[in-house]
Amino acid sequence: MLAIPTPEALITQFDRALRTVFASAQTRRPYPDAGLPEAAMSEAERAHAAGLMRVNHCGEVCAQALYAGQALTARNPVAQQALLEAAEEETEHLAWCEKRLDALGSHKSVFNPLWYAGSFGLGVLAGALGDKWNLGFLAETERQVEGHLDSHLSHLGHINPLPAQDAKSRAVVEQMKADEIKHAHTAVAHGGAELPLPVRQAMQATSKIMTALAYRI
Ligand SMILES: [Fe+2]
Ligand SMILES: [Fe+2]
Repeated sequence: MLAIPTPEALITQFDRALRTVFASAQTRRPYPDAGLPEAAMSEAERAHAAGLMRVNHCGEVCAQALYAGQALTARNPVAQQALLEAAEEETEHLAWCEKRLDALGSHKSVFNPLWYAGSFGLGVLAGALGDKWNLGFLAETERQVEGHLDSHLSHLGHINPLPAQDAKSRAVVEQMKADEIKHAHTAVAHGGAELPLPVRQAMQATSKIMTALAYRI
C-alpha cells in the first residue's frame, strides 16, 4: 500500500524545496578546499571551472529533490532514514559547490527550481514503487553522479576536465565523489535492486540535458 504523506510532511518538503533552491546551504563538515590556495587561471579556464561547478551544483539540487521525494513515499523506516542521511550530505555538497561558484565569480543555474520540481516528482514515483526500486534508483543515481564527477577530475576520460591547477574545485569534487560512492553502497546494502537498462539509459539521457543547460546558464 502506498504511504500517504501527512500535511506536516508536505509542509516540511515545501520548506526544504524553497531553502534548497533559494537559500544558501550550510555545511557541518569543513569545506574540502579550506586551506588550499586559489590558483591563477585564465579567463577561459575560470569560466570552464565555473561551468562544471554549476553543473555539479545543479546535480546536488536534483539529488536533494530526489531524496526528499523518495523519503516522502518510502515505506520502510530504515530506508527512509538512509535517504534522509544521504540528503543531509547532499546539502553539504550544495554548500561546497555554491561557495566554489561564488569564488569563481559565477552564479547558480537559473533552471534549478525547474530541476528541483522534476526530480522531486521522480523521487515520489520511485518511493511509491517500493523500497527495492526506490533504493535501486538511489544507487544508480549515485553511480552516475560519481562517474560524472570522476570525469571532471581525469585528464583522459573527459575532453575538458577541471583545470589542473584548480586544486580548490578538485578537492571539492574529490570529496563529493567519495561521498557518492558511500551513498551508492548504503543504498545497495539496504536492498536496492539493479535498475533495468532502459531506465538507466533514460536517466543518463536526462542528466546529459541537465549538464548541457547548467554548464551555460
Ligand atoms: Fe552529492
Ligand atoms: Fe550522494
